[in-house]
Amino acid sequence: MTGTRTGLVGHPVSHSKSPIIHEYWIKHYGLSGTYELIDLPCEELATGIRRLKDEGFHGFNVTVPHKMAVMKLCDEVDMLARIVGAVNTVKIKDGRLYGTNTDVFGFTENLKAHVPDFDFSLGPALVLGAGGAARAVVQGLLMEGVPEIWLSNRTASKAEALIEHSSEPGRIRRLEWNSPYSSEDMSQVHMVINTTSLGMTGKPPLEVSLDGLSQDALVYDIVYAPLMTELLKDSRRRGNRIVTGIGMLLHQARPGFKLWHGVMPEVTDELTEMVGG
Ligand SMILES: NC(=O)c1ccc[n+]([C@@H]2O[C@H](COP(=O)([O-])OP(=O)(O)OC[C@H]3O[C@@H](n4cnc5c(N)ncnc54)[C@H](OP(=O)(O)O)[C@@H]3O)[C@@H](O)[C@H]2O)c1
Repeated sequence: MTGTRTGLVGHPVSHSKSPIIHEYWIKHYGLSGTYELIDLPCEELATGIRRLKDEGFHGFNVTVPHKMAVMKLCDEVDMLARIVGAVNTVKIKDGRLYGTNTDVFGFTENLKAHVPDFDFSLGPALVLGAGGAARAVVQGLLMEGVPEIWLSNRTASKAEALIEHSSEPGRIRRLEWNSPYSSEDMSQVHMVINTTSLGMTGKPPLEVSLDGLSQDALVYDIVYAPLMTELLKDSRRRGNRIVTGIGMLLHQARPGFKLWHGVMPEVTDELTEMVGG
């Protein structure tokens, strides 16, 4: 008896920390179930997901490169996932697939867990990057009441597409990618969020000047390998509050676990340490 069968669908998936998280919670809450790694190349996504249904899976997470493609395979996709344009969590019930997006929750819950008194309404947020993760970050910021988002991405057309697709294009302004940003702009910024893959192990460094940024501003890097990116080290040296990215990974896993097992799990210090936080 395997209990609740769940897993992660992606390509590749072998590097994922998600099994550590879900297996920890299954044990911690005395539940019965599995969390399996399911490597499916693009051409096998549809048949692979049909197989999961036939084998009695209760649901699964979705990662790169399938977060958009899986939407078409779901019987229902909720409003949030449609706004973000990506599904990262699927529940299977009575042979039907329900898709949602928990990255928005993961992004904001991690911030709130680290800085409970953070007031999103105090100034603009500078978001670096306009890829898949940026869509969830931007939606989270809009939902938390950030007055304005300044979006800066190497490929301007991708930033424009993100703005157009968002729920409130009027609250997002595009900034040119080539830093330095003007000191006048930087002095107004209340938070900076890196959503690019720059600064990640094996990727080029993120070269961004924080000159002019107020000491009250918060800097959040969603890259979590390494945990302390150069951006965060610099920010800490300047005296800014920082938030690391590993908690976003942990918190985004919580609503999926609740959907499948009926328990909203907590992020404990022990679990954070287990995934390198
Ligand atoms: N903490 C978490 O839970 C969590 C969740 C999701 C993602 N992440 C992390 O977030 C990062 C982005 O993920 P994603 O899914 O959004 O990836 P993605 O869709 O591939 O987007 C990558 C972003 O990085 C930019 N970029 C890449 N190389 C660049 C370069 N050389 N110069 C300037 N910009 C560059 C891209 O700009 P262009 O548009 O110009 O290509 C784009 O904005 C990854 O490091 C990922 O691990 C963390």
